[in-house]
Amino acid sequence: MKLYNPTSATPATSSVTFAGLIEKIEILRSTLRWSSRLERPEIEKLLKQATTLRDEVMGLSHKERFVAAASASGEAEAPVVEPVEMSARERRQALMERSFIFEGTFGDNPKLLEALEIAEKASPTDLPVLIDGESGTGKELMAKVIHANGIRTDKPFISVNCGAIPDSLLESELFGHKKGAFTGAANDRRGKFESAHTGTIFLDEIGELPLTGQVKLLRVLEAHEIQRVGSDEVIAVDTRIVAATNKDLRRMSQEGTFREDLFYRLSVIHVTLPALRERRDEIPLLVSYFGDEAAGLLKRRPVKLTPRLRDFLLHYEYPGNIRELRNLMYRLSCLAGDTADFIHLPQDIRPKPAGLQAVAAAGGKASVADLSTATSLSEAKRAASDEAERAFLERGLQEVGGTVAELARRFDMNRSHVQMLLKKHGIHSKDFRNNNRHPEGK
Ligand SMILES: Nc1ncnc2c1ncn2[C@@H]1O[C@H](COP(=O)(O)OP(=O)(O)OP(=O)(O)O)[C@@H](O)[C@H]1O
Ligand SMILES: [Mg+2]
Repeated sequence: MKLYNPTSATPATSSVTFAGLIEKIEILRSTLRWSSRLERPEIEKLLKQATTLRDEVMGLSHKERFVAAASASGEAEAPVVEPVEMSARERRQALMERSFIFEGTFGDNPKLLEALEIAEKASPTDLPVLIDGESGTGKELMAKVIHANGIRTDKPFISVNCGAIPDSLLESELFGHKKGAFTGAANDRRGKFESAHTGTIFLDEIGELPLTGQVKLLRVLEAHEIQRVGSDEVIAVDTRIVAATNKDLRRMSQEGTFREDLFYRLSVIHVTLPALRERRDEIPLLVSYFGDEAAGLLKRRPVKLTPRLRDFLLHYEYPGNIRELRNLMYRLSCLAGDTADFIHLPQDIRPKPAGLQAVAAAGGKASVADLSTATSLSEAKRAASDEAERAFLERGLQEVGGTVAELARRFDMNRSHVQMLLKKHGIHSKDFRNNNRHPEGK
């Protein structure tokens, strides 16, 4: 590759930064992904090389990244960002040229770029940052981006899920405790704030923090010191605070369920991440990106999608945002053989095949009842029986690799009866063919 020769070390003074290099590798990877002239085996080989290259760079780059971030923040005449006048591509390119570390954040949506540009400016400071956005929009990833681009990058990044700690343990979890402070406190223990000393503490789901915890957190923000539970000793902590929530904290503070003073303390810099449905144009790229990522992890060829499944994925609402899309691609890559179809989607989001809807609409004997909408006990029983029948057929087809004759033989059923049942449920046996996706026998 002309881009980077791994055998020639990059001089420390080079204008080529490791962050820039990582981004170039990412560009190389997506270029390869979309290349039409290369054969798939060649693409896979090159992708593998690029991944190895990225891993090597990531292994070496910590100190270099620290220096890059520190010197960028020290520049008196940092280039002015004029988002309105630049295209999305130019804005991303400009971030790359300023050695911004994306930590895998993907996408050119203007709202996402705006969030990244704010993160870029906030990172080298110690100002608290509040990140909000729906579930799965990348809040934790953004917190890591802020940490990675700041001067604390080689110091700890400690993540605390405020919603997952029982009220009784909250204080001890955050600030630590002294031996004997309460039943079960067998030893001195330091809390998350002390662990994050000199680094960053990420307070996830901050909206779940009970009011008592909010008061204590406010004190740390004001005084930069903590006391372990049961101890009089005051310990100074130097910790950068990044908090995240999928709630509307401003509204909560107006309603009195979140302290207003804490809200203003935490949200000196406020970043909002866009929902995936606000960046639909990027879905095709994300489908391909996560499809390749899953293929790499599962050691298989990237899964192909039937046209109707692709269409579904491009138009689905994604209430779980990027996490849901990523999980879907992993699921499809794990469950499908060569090609994925509706059958490989989770049942709760799987659309009813057109054929099935038509049969149901016809209201004939072969109609399939829906358990979730059954209005009588007998209807519910029929729906449960239909679901069991469907699951049985699908599992059977998986086991026999989509051969109807084999399915009929194995379960001692009449072949035309099996065909009739498959038709009733809108199941296509061919969707289950070529399911042997682990040639090594894994
Ligand atoms: N812009 C993005 N580019 C690439 N991957 C992303 C992006 N945003 C999110 N992801 C991926 O989506 C998944 C969810 O991200 P993350 O955990 O940061 O979301 P979150 O907002 O913290 O979700 P929750 O509110 O449920 O905790 C992760 O695997 C993350 O790497
Ligand atoms: Mg999260």
